[in-house]
Amino acid sequence: MQKTNVASEALYIGLMSGTSIDGIDASLVDFSDNKIRILAFHYQPFSSTLRQQIHSLSQPNQPVLLEHYGTIDTQLGQLFAEAALALLDKAKIAPSKIKAIGSHGQTVYHAPNGPHGFSLQIGDPNRIAEITGITTIADFRRRDIAVGGQGAPLVPAFHQAIFSDPNDSITVLNIGGIANITVLGKGPVLGFDTGPGNTLLDYWCQQSLGQNFDAGGEWTSSGKVNHALLSHLLDDPYFRQVPPKSTGKEYFSSVWLQQKIAPFGSSKPEDIQATLCQLSADSIADAILGYASDSRRVLVCGGGIHNRELIRKLEIRLPMTIVSTAEFGIDPDHVEAVAFAWLAKQTLQHNPGNLCTVTGAKRPTILGGIYPGQRH
Ligand SMILES: Nc1ncnc2c1ncn2[C@@H]1O[C@H](COP(=O)(O)OP(=O)(O)O)[C@@H](O)[C@H]1O
Ligand SMILES: [Mg+2]
Repeated sequence: MQKTNVASEALYIGLMSGTSIDGIDASLVDFSDNKIRILAFHYQPFSSTLRQQIHSLSQPNQPVLLEHYGTIDTQLGQLFAEAALALLDKAKIAPSKIKAIGSHGQTVYHAPNGPHGFSLQIGDPNRIAEITGITTIADFRRRDIAVGGQGAPLVPAFHQAIFSDPNDSITVLNIGGIANITVLGKGPVLGFDTGPGNTLLDYWCQQSLGQNFDAGGEWTSSGKVNHALLSHLLDDPYFRQVPPKSTGKEYFSSVWLQQKIAPFGSSKPEDIQATLCQLSADSIADAILGYASDSRRVLVCGGGIHNRELIRKLEIRLPMTIVSTAEFGIDPDHVEAVAFAWLAKQTLQHNPGNLCTVTGAKRPTILGGIYPGQRH
């Protein structure tokens, strides 16, 4: 077996849990020789109890007990640390070899606009640093908001670093709970959240079938799009808003959906699901056609790539070639976790992690807080 020649100065772990609240993606990345090599990947799903508890923290206009918040924060910190250790176990690499962990945390609220804008990611990084012994970088978004940005999306700088091609115009599409695009063309990098990716689909599937998501989009494909409902959903002002813009599941929430579908109460559940899928596809396609029409290729990552019905609908709407990031060397399920390993490296090397043209920040800035590890 070939032994991987890894320099410990270049080994980073990325930990990601997105708005789908499905679980933790952990990846071990070697950045030596100015390359990106993914050495191992580990996925740890959340229990349904924890998923429910996290959801309950993210409800708009609902009071939250600080005690409840604090226990979930520490519980998540513990789970992130365990995911990092399980990853290292898989890779057979000692924690002492790792330069740092970049932990995105779990977003429980994202409201970046206005004078007191904020974005809250939890999963106590003190715990991660203590349990793993590895220096941990976390809380990436708030520094960008402090310099006037949206704090999101943050993955475009990484997309630019790995996918940009001077001879090609590319759009990277990440379909998580919320979908976001990165436009890598001739001009400055653009990027923004297009709106819902999987979040409403997951919610409606859970309500109707009691399943966390619709595997492969099978059930979704059995429904018929309700065009009156679709127009009503697409009429939301978020879709017309000009970037920089970002959003979250506290906006495209169950409350949002219930209010919108109330006048369409007699629709079949599968028709509502098909309509929500069309909403994701149309809002993504409108964003790409509006801001990236000269892209020749759309590189897709995030769990939404496994929803065949969603991809089919995108293929109908978009003239560009739609491919998985796997064709460019990174498994679509790994991209975001790798991005946070890269962002941790940026921070430790005193490089900015944000792109002002994307987030709207007044200046590029080093992101995140550093929680020193103790080498055991
Ligand atoms: N086999 C599948 N079929 C359909 N959808 C899937 C499948 N696997 C994952 N997904 C979707 O992807 C989501 C997770 O994607 P992910 O990229 O982890 O999102 P996030 O970053 O928001 O956590 C799931 O909640 C589900 O909606
Ligand atoms: Mg996820």
